[in-house]
Amino acid sequence: MARPAPHDLTVIVLAAGGGTRMKSKTMKVLHPVAGRSMVGHVLAAAQAVEPRRIVAVVGHQREQVAAHIRSLVPDVVLAVQETQDGTGHAVRMAMEAVLDGGAARGTVLVAYGDTPLLQGESLRAFAANHEAAQRTVSILSGIVEDPFGLGRVIRNHEGDVEAIVEEKDATPEQREIREINSGILAFDAEFLAEVLPRIGNDNAKGEYYLTDAIGIAREDGLTVGAYALDDVMQTEGVNDRAQLARAGAEMNRRIVDRWMRDGVTVMDPATTWIEADVVLAQDVTLLPGTQLLGATVVAEDAVIGPDTTLKDCEVGAGARVVRTHGELAVVGGGATVGPFAYLRPGTQLGAGGKIGTFVETKNAVIGDGAKVPHLSYVGDAEIGEGTNIGAGTIFANYDGVAKHRTTIGRHAKTGSNNTFVAPVTLGDGAGTAGGTVVRRDVPPGALAVSSGPQRNLEGWALRKRADTAQGQAAAAATEGERDVSHDDGS
Ligand code: UD1
Ligand code: CA
Repeated sequence: MARPAPHDLTVIVLAAGGGTRMKSKTMKVLHPVAGRSMVGHVLAAAQAVEPRRIVAVVGHQREQVAAHIRSLVPDVVLAVQETQDGTGHAVRMAMEAVLDGGAARGTVLVAYGDTPLLQGESLRAFAANHEAAQRTVSILSGIVEDPFGLGRVIRNHEGDVEAIVEEKDATPEQREIREINSGILAFDAEFLAEVLPRIGNDNAKGEYYLTDAIGIAREDGLTVGAYALDDVMQTEGVNDRAQLARAGAEMNRRIVDRWMRDGVTVMDPATTWIEADVVLAQDVTLLPGTQLLGATVVAEDAVIGPDTTLKDCEVGAGARVVRTHGELAVVGGGATVGPFAYLRPGTQLGAGGKIGTFVETKNAVIGDGAKVPHLSYVGDAEIGEGTNIGAGTIFANYDGVAKHRTTIGRHAKTGSNNTFVAPVTLGDGAGTAGGTVVRRDVPPGALAVSSGPQRNLEGWALRKRADTAQGQAAAAATEGERDVSHDDGS
């Protein structure tokens, strides 16, 4: 059950660091995990706590980062940290932006923009625990196997929290401690505003450590404590591409798990990728090698895969999509797609329709029960219900300058190897013969035929290709005939 949100809560998200170890022209917190930026995941967790306000601290590439954050949280308070002088300095910038000379109130939660696995429920539980225990400062802590690089939670003989010591400043004994600072801290806002200017930078990194606030609070005789998160992985920061991949795999594992518990059959979780914003109905089946990305929505009993990628697609109930790549496409209920289909943006396949093997579609509205079964390109087209498009048909939508539309009516039957030279219209119930190049409109019920009558040039291969395998095969096949005709003639 969701715990009640604290009454006057500010969440500060730090996103000013450069992320040098990513070795990327993209700012670290903008790198996606499961289809959402890392900072996007953290902001979603922050929003889930229903805070009074969210403050984001930006620095490196602040224009892009700030614009991205504002697009996700329009009423965010942005604070700029010109130089990255440490987490204490970053939070000071945030508090100055919020307070603007006014008094601090309530609770302040500090989180980092590079912890994509963080869940809103964990933040909420931590904030509630902090307020219930009436502490001045709370640490969201965790016990880890390998604490290297992290701040250690130092406790006295009574087990009370005394301080956080950073890796670089820790004694060898302190480095043995496996209780770590996840980085997420909760503060009484008044204390935080008062303590930030008191934090110095006399340490191994020459930075203003936010974590020094804990030791100072203790010296002031204030209450400090830690709330341990069992699922400490949620607070793991991503610093390089290897950690990015690990966070992505872990998030995917969690998402796939959740969908399986919600009634989705996933034959091979290890090769199935489902992004954070995808929505699946009960009794959907995902076969190996399936990637469901973006805002893809799949209705019940649909079967997707194997080896299918769908981004921002909508798949209707009971549809079957096999070995397909699709983007911004809609597949109707009970329709079938693939194997080996490429659905480009603007594809809309009606209920019970078919887009078959080696078919590419773009801006194509294909009616209920209509079929494009084999080896075709359908671009900028509308195909009426129940119509069947012959194998190997090209909708020639581009004249070299502009794109044009082809419209085909209901229950039309077109022959194999047609070319529809757009703009062109075929009426309801129209037909075309094999090999037709349709350049003029075809009225309802008419049959269009454009190829000329066939001529056979007898013995052509024998005369022109005598020395080739073709000529010899023709000679062998017609020998008897020639002998007979010779006998007859003598
Ligand atoms: C910090 C904590 C450490 C904790 C660890 C958890 C401090 C001093 N130490 O260490 O106790 O175990 O996180 O991962 O807080 N940032 C800014 N501006 C700055 C500096 C940092 O915005 O001037 C942001 C970074 O972009 C990053 C976050 O704050 O998202 C953490 O900073 P980082 O320097 O990585 O702290 P750690 O040394 O990992
Ligand atoms: Ca870090």
